[in-house]
Amino acid sequence: MKILAIESSCDETSVAIVEDGKNVLCNVVYTQIEFHKQYGGVVPEVASRHHIAKITYVIDAAMKEAGINYSNLDYIAVTSEPGLIGSLMVGVNAAKTIGLAYNIPVVMVNHIYGHIYANYLESDFAFPLIALVVSGGHTELVLMKEHFHFTILGETLDDAVGEAYDKIARVVNVGYPGGPVIDKMAKLGHPVYPLPHIKLSKDSYNFSFSGLKSAVINLYNKSKEKGEDLNYNDLAASFQDAVIDVLVSKTLKAAKEYQAKQVIIAGGVSANSGLRQKMKEEIEKLNIKFTVPSLKNCTDNAAMIGVAGYFQILCDK
Ligand code: KG4
Ligand code: ZN
Repeated sequence: MKILAIESSCDETSVAIVEDGKNVLCNVVYTQIEFHKQYGGVVPEVASRHHIAKITYVIDAAMKEAGINYSNLDYIAVTSEPGLIGSLMVGVNAAKTIGLAYNIPVVMVNHIYGHIYANYLESDFAFPLIALVVSGGHTELVLMKEHFHFTILGETLDDAVGEAYDKIARVVNVGYPGGPVIDKMAKLGHPVYPLPHIKLSKDSYNFSFSGLKSAVINLYNKSKEKGEDLNYNDLAASFQDAVIDVLVSKTLKAAKEYQAKQVIIAGGVSANSGLRQKMKEEIEKLNIKFTVPSLKNCTDNAAMIGVAGYFQILCDK
């Protein structure tokens, strides 16, 4: 089954062709990051306009790279939620137009499910499976007992992890997106600053990152006011240490409680080197299979939508 997949939920315009949920024939990603850098975050209006300008070129490039015609396609899968509404509309309209013109059925795919299924490109799934979804907009612990069956065990009550990374980077003025920059700084520093590791109640699978984010920003602002020296790499390491401790401990708890056969991490923050390393160590101590997406598939791309679309179609039948 060949699926043309389209992703445009935020600041990446991406088109992929995926065969049988596993074989990625092409995965073209056009990123708008350079345009949003000057604002320190994604500006929705600007994002929609760039999607409109680029979508047909990205579709053409993908079709050429895969070397196939529209008549070879069985389905079109497109991200329909969650995301920036204007940006989503560009992808959905493109998908519907091609679907109508070439008589190809269109399926609407949830972006979060796409991030989860990016892991399927690395390894088959073993159930029960625990997925930690950590992106710019979401932080969720998800239980899967079978393909395309998702139970949310917990989620953030305030900021998503990636959002906290991006906001701190903006205040400290180290660039956008904040995740990769802070990840690099953290490797050069030591977690010497005491920051809150907010785990909420012992039984809760929910998360809260706004208190940690404010603690980092307060430390930064106070040091500026007082003219004191603050080691930014140590600050980054302390923040990342708190984030990883919370994410890993809740994931471990869920893996044990639900007797997981596999644990995966998904979403942009799954590219974080510290998180990948610590989670792997801890999960493998429990003799549970651990999978992460390849770095290029951690952030937004259409191949993951093609994989999720494939399982959505199979499970709907
Ligand atoms: O999944 P994604 O591309 O878009 C959303 O669906 O939100 O995730 C983007 C987020 C941004 O907040 C970015 O700062 C974060 O992923 N990110 C990272 C790293 N690379 C990207 N966060 C921490 N460490 C990284 N290495
Ligand atoms: Zn995403």
